Amino acid sequence: MAKKTTTFLLLNVFLAALSTLTMAAVSPAVFVFGDSLVDVGNNNFLPSDAPKVNFPPWGIDYPGRTPTGRCTNGFNYADYIAKAVGLAMSPPPFLSLSNGNQMLRGVNFASGGAGILDTTGGDVIAMATQIEDFEQVAANLTERLGKQSVALFLEKSLFNLIIGSNDIYTLYSLLSPGNSTQKDETVVLILDKFKHQIERLYDLGARKFAVLGVAALGCVPLARVPISSYACNEDLNDL
Ligand SMILES: *[C@@H]1O[C@H](CO)[C@@H](O)[C@H](O)[C@H]1NC(C)=O
Ligand SMILES: *[C@@H]1O[C@H](CO)[C@@H](O)[C@H](O)[C@H]1NC(C)=O
Repeated sequence: MAKKTTTFLLLNVFLAALSTLTMAAVSPAVFVFGDSLVDVGNNNFLPSDAPKVNFPPWGIDYPGRTPTGRCTNGFNYADYIAKAVGLAMSPPPFLSLSNGNQMLRGVNFASGGAGILDTTGGDVIAMATQIEDFEQVAANLTERLGKQSVALFLEKSLFNLIIGSNDIYTLYSLLSPGNSTQKDETVVLILDKFKHQIERLYDLGARKFAVLGVAALGCVPLARVPISSYACNEDLNDL
C-alpha cells in the first residue's frame, strides 16, 4: 500500500513535469554528460586520486560560497543550460542520488578530467561509463513509471554533451609535430567513438541533443606557458 502511494505521488510529479512542456515549450529534464566544464559534483564521490575541486577557493562566487565540485568560481555550463530550459535547479550528480524522485528533472553524469576515449583522464568516469549510468537511470524510471511515459519523457528531455577537450589535450602531447596524417587519424578516431556514443544514447531514447564543440584549447594558460610570448598554441587550436 505504501509503495502504491509513493508511486502515485511520483507519477503526479512526473506528469506535472511533462505538462510544463505544453506551457513553455522547454524540456522537462536535462541529462548532462561530459567533463569538468559540466561536472557538478560527481568526482567528489570518487576515490582520493581522482581530480577534485571540493575545497576553497573553488566556489567562492557560488551561492553560500561553497565548493561543490564545480571546476569554477560560480556556476558552470550545466547550471546555465538547466536555467535556460526553465529548470529551477541544475540536475543532481548521478553519484549523489538517494531516491528516485531526484531523477525527474534529469541527472548529471559528468566527471572532471573525463574523455570520449576510455583511456583519457585516469581514475574518472569515462563517457562510456556515463552512458551506462544513464542506462541505469532509464531502467529505474521505467520500472517505476512505465515504458511509454518514460519514452515520452526522454524524447522531450535535453541531452547535453560537453566532452572532448581532455582527449584532444592528452593526444596532442603524443603526436609528432608536423605529421598531419597522424593528426587526422587521431581526430577521426575520437569522432568515430563519439558518434557511436551519441547513437547509443539515441537507442536508449534520447532525441534532443545539445553537443558543444571543443573550445580553443591552445589558448588555455597551461598551453601558453611554454610559449615565450604566452601566445596561443595555434597548432593545438587547429587540432
Ligand atoms: C531507483 O533509484 C533510486 C536512487 O538510487 C533508488 O533509491 C531506488 O531504489 C531505485 N528503484 C528501483 C526500482 O531501481
Ligand atoms: C605520420 O604518422 C603516420 C601514422 O599515424 C605514420 O604512418 C607516418 O609514417 C608518419 N609520417 C612521418 C613523416 O613520420
